[in-house]
Amino acid sequence: SESLLIDKYGRQLSYLRLSVTDRCNFRCYYCMPEEGMNFAARQELLSFEELYQLSALFCSMGVNKIRITGGEPFVRAGIIPFLRKLSQIPGLEEITVTSNGTLNQKQIKALQEIGIRKINISLDSLDRERFFKITRRDSFDSVFASIFSLMESGFDIKLNCVVAENKNIQDIVPFVELTKDRPIAVRFLEEMPFNGSSTFGTPQWSHREIYQHITNHYPTLEKLQSEASSTSVNYKVPGYAGSFGIIPSFSRTFCGTCNRIRLGATGELRTCLYGPPATNLRDVIRSGNTTEQVAQEILEAVSRREKDGFAAEASHGTAIHESMSVLGG
Ligand code: GTP
Ligand code: 5AD
Ligand code: SF4
Repeated sequence: SESLLIDKYGRQLSYLRLSVTDRCNFRCYYCMPEEGMNFAARQELLSFEELYQLSALFCSMGVNKIRITGGEPFVRAGIIPFLRKLSQIPGLEEITVTSNGTLNQKQIKALQEIGIRKINISLDSLDRERFFKITRRDSFDSVFASIFSLMESGFDIKLNCVVAENKNIQDIVPFVELTKDRPIAVRFLEEMPFNGSSTFGTPQWSHREIYQHITNHYPTLEKLQSEASSTSVNYKVPGYAGSFGIIPSFSRTFCGTCNRIRLGATGELRTCLYGPPATNLRDVIRSGNTTEQVAQEILEAVSRREKDGFAAEASHGTAIHESMSVLGG
């Protein structure tokens, strides 16, 4: 449908990231502390009915892609019927999912039936012990079983790997090797300050160090074409079946073409990962506003979108960042 979601710098927001829960069965060090967080109570979460209503509204305003994220989307009961309903929204061309890989066979089958073809799996290590240190959970086998099953079922798979010193540098080359015979895409991410605490320095492994490390092992790489809104710069080792990419998530070299808008599990609408939410759509709908009024609130939020949210936030001097499980990756 006609696109109404255009910010004052001409960026069209066609890609909605929908967090369906702030909860997770993992405790990745870069996302949340071991003891977990102050998770939202059930009545604070957008209900599936509300999530559907808002999704349909966004699609009528120009969104054509929705990524389901969290927390871990599959820990929320009722997610499959919700996805089935979501897939019927007119104008919604694509639904994609980001998961930590702890979804089961039944859920994989259901995703296939619903017509979901693409899934991003967070996987930071190919080694059981390092995987445990990173996620604080012993789920290596079940995640691998899911990835193989997704591959067999023909899903388009991207593996997201957050790179950090003393955590998984040894895994970088093996991850690239994984693309030798498999048509998967591995993406290496810079760590971002969304770990649920206020302490964070500048990451040691920026996209440059990651690239340098890889070219030390693979002197010739083929650079691939990517969409303008892509977060990753993508490459292929000549002759390999799959590809790999580097996401400068901390350096944010892609803000100029960013097409994403985010809806948090408790209704926060964000036009940038950094900085405070633009509004809370749960409160807007629960206080009895009409669809027209909700649409108006969304338009106003988009019109306030900053050119560079990170710089704006830095100038306001806020340092505490919410966890990615609240922001919706
Ligand atoms: P595709 O639809 O497959 O392109 O997914 P994606 O790369 O947008 O989504 P994914 O869930 O795989 O997220 C990958 C990572 O990109 C996120 O975890 C962030 O690290 C980073 N990222 C995505 N969007 C933004 C953004 O708006 N700002 C910043 N700084 N980083 C982002
Ligand atoms: N820095 C970088 N990436 C992160 N993710 C979660 N928290 C962080 C962080 N602090 C990644 C997850 C997932 C994606 C949506 O976000 O690994 O793949
Ligand atoms: Fe869970 Fe993803 Fe956060 Fe890890 S990064 S704790 S898998 S929400």
